[in-house]
Amino acid sequence: MNVHESEKIAGILTKLGYIEANEGEDADVVVFNTCCIRDNAERKATGHIGMMKTEKKKNPDMIVAVVGCMTQQDGAGRALKEKFPFIDIVLGTSNLALLETYIPSVAASRAKYVDIDDNELPPINENETFYRTSGTNAWLNIMYGCNNFCTYCIVPYVRGRERSRTKEAIIDEFKRLVDEGYKEITLLGQNVNSYGKDIYGNSYGFAQLLEDLAKVEGKHRIRFMTSHPKDFNRGLIDVIAAYPNICNNIHLPVQSGSDKILKLMNRHYTRDYYLDTVAAIREKLPDCGITTDIMVGFPYEEESDFLDTLDLVEKVRYSNAFTFVYSVRKGTPAAEMPQVDPLVAKDRIMRLIAAQNRITKELSKEYENKVFEVLCEDLSPTKKGCVCGRTDSGRLVTFAGGSDLIGKFCNVRITRSQSASLFGETEE
Ligand code: 5AD
Ligand code: SF4
Repeated sequence: MNVHESEKIAGILTKLGYIEANEGEDADVVVFNTCCIRDNAERKATGHIGMMKTEKKKNPDMIVAVVGCMTQQDGAGRALKEKFPFIDIVLGTSNLALLETYIPSVAASRAKYVDIDDNELPPINENETFYRTSGTNAWLNIMYGCNNFCTYCIVPYVRGRERSRTKEAIIDEFKRLVDEGYKEITLLGQNVNSYGKDIYGNSYGFAQLLEDLAKVEGKHRIRFMTSHPKDFNRGLIDVIAAYPNICNNIHLPVQSGSDKILKLMNRHYTRDYYLDTVAAIREKLPDCGITTDIMVGFPYEEESDFLDTLDLVEKVRYSNAFTFVYSVRKGTPAAEMPQVDPLVAKDRIMRLIAAQNRITKELSKEYENKVFEVLCEDLSPTKKGCVCGRTDSGRLVTFAGGSDLIGKFCNVRITRSQSASLFGETEE
């Protein structure tokens, strides 16, 4: 989501006549697109912003703007400006478009702006231009915001309520992307399964949208994220099964394998419900790569709760898992709950990562000596004379080839695997 938002920011800068500066090159404008999902994301952003102090001394005309989730938190925008007075523009998540007027104004008169809109339901801007950076893949926002209020999560506070784009606007943009030659389109939303509820009620939802997009002609793949397990229904599985261009790759964050913790997290599903959903996916989509997000060290998590999480990981056998230590977010309900000892949480995350690494390695072995259709995305960043791309299930494959293959679908036989990495060679 943030990568795509940075494409929006770069789109605004391009409209204003700016071009991309290379790393290490003096830039006229620097925009920090911040995240506040965990404390380390905030610390990272603050560290990078702090480093601009010396750059600003060298080049006082440089414009520094800070936007995104971090500034949108209660009072955070002003606090940031006080800490770093050299910042020229601070904007929140819903008024990013103001960069287009503020940047020329700062350039002309050195004016300063701190402008955070606390609107919970900001209107959707359908006139955005994107400076796309993702090569063969394009991101497409289908909705914004979140209504779920998981007790650990800051997103509903900084991104406002769920707002769906109209199906016409989405289908139009999708067709344009296909015409422009993008081979993979990833639909984005904090909770894509809620798509349409705010504007269509129950008459048109994510499964129908996915089906309408899958029918658009051309050779391209569709991915989507993120799905909430509570809304992941069987109709959606049927649509994915019916259309070969919808990737067999589902990101289904579980967060915890313990019913007690899931309840405290306000996730609205149980462990058994989640496992039933996975079983239904495996039945209809046997080759589906399922990935997840998991948190350890959530308040009240005991060893037995953590063992439930480990057990669930062993049962599901995720192709990949993003694992996190719970991080207190001010203003969320979980921040008021008793916290787990950080050393205990650290021990749990190490055990979780070890289990998932072993599973990923075992699953990688199963790919060996089989042929998969791989969309070639780029030159390999690590292996000379090689390119890399993804299988339909979302696994990254490195294989011999040159830039002429980028954007092409190749049949690749997997010859070797190493942990999460797959290596192969093209076949006719
Ligand atoms: N601490 C740790 N991880 C978090 N996530 C969301 N909020 C927090 C938090 N306070 C994780 C969840 C979510 C992913 C995007 O980030 O696992 O799915
Ligand atoms: Fe955060 Fe929960 Fe919404 Fe995901 S569904 S963005 S974890 S509140």
